[in-house]
Amino acid sequence: MALLDGKVCIVTGGAGSLGLASVAEFRREGGRVMLVDRDMSAIEAAIASIGGSGKDIAACAADVASTEGTRRYIDETISRWGKIDVLFSNAGISGVIRPVTDYPEDVFDAVMAVNVRASFLACKYGLPQMNDGGSILITSSVVGVTSDPGICAYATSKHAVIGLMRTVAKEAAPRRIRVNVIAPGPIDNGFQLDIEKGISAATGRDGTKLLDSIIPLGRHGRPEEIARMVLFHASDLGSFTTGSVLMADGGMHI
Ligand SMILES: NC(=O)c1ccc[n+]([C@@H]2O[C@H](COP(=O)([O-])OP(=O)(O)OC[C@H]3O[C@@H](n4cnc5c(N)ncnc54)[C@H](O)[C@@H]3O)[C@@H](O)[C@H]2O)c1
Repeated sequence: MALLDGKVCIVTGGAGSLGLASVAEFRREGGRVMLVDRDMSAIEAAIASIGGSGKDIAACAADVASTEGTRRYIDETISRWGKIDVLFSNAGISGVIRPVTDYPEDVFDAVMAVNVRASFLACKYGLPQMNDGGSILITSSVVGVTSDPGICAYATSKHAVIGLMRTVAKEAAPRRIRVNVIAPGPIDNGFQLDIEKGISAATGRDGTKLLDSIIPLGRHGRPEEIARMVLFHASDLGSFTTGSVLMADGGMHI
């Protein structure tokens, strides 16, 4: 039997790198997936890249930072499959690289809206619809437990979801719903490359090489390596783990 046989899973930011790798992993393990992202054409291209549509996949274009968007993707999942087993709140944006004294307030607010408010809304509206024994997962980052100059909004947002996760883990435990955070380090994808361009501009050094030099395993991660960590929490492999921060960062936080 596959690890997610018959399970209904929601993945936000599902058209992006880590979200899509997780959607593909969930599908391979027999899950049915509601893929949520901002834009339907990006969603369709993403689904096409992992084998195309099928009975096991549905999509919802929604702004996950809004109450309306959140309620809509939850409602569409329930009307299609009648339940939710796994809720992966993963959509995120990085903001800009600037010192706090120079950090634009509108960018700070936008980062908090997508990276924190959306996960709060996912828990607020998703939890009542979830099956007992389900799993909620939130994507934080290595900078959810560390930080560096220039990333006040991003690091603050990634710390904040750990507090959210710990609270909801205790609230949901009586229903055997596990709530965990996955904390990736730098991954070899476009999201991270954008951040590294900002680091290069701010430091005058190659941002990618700079990060590799401070990651004990000496390299970036791959999206599929994160998807396997996500699968651990989504499935019964993680059945006795709740309230945890799973670091998947090549040791960068040590
Ligand atoms: N890439 C890395 O190195 C890295 C490291 C640590 C943590 N993370 C986190 O992993 C998560 C996924 O990032 P990724 O690397 O796959 O980046 P990505 O840009 O490929 O994916 C993010 C997805 O979120 C979607 N999104 C953004 N705002 C949205 C909104 N308001 N409503 C709906 N969808 C929205 C984007 O359209 C995109 O598809 C993010 O939370 C990010 O902060 C990434």
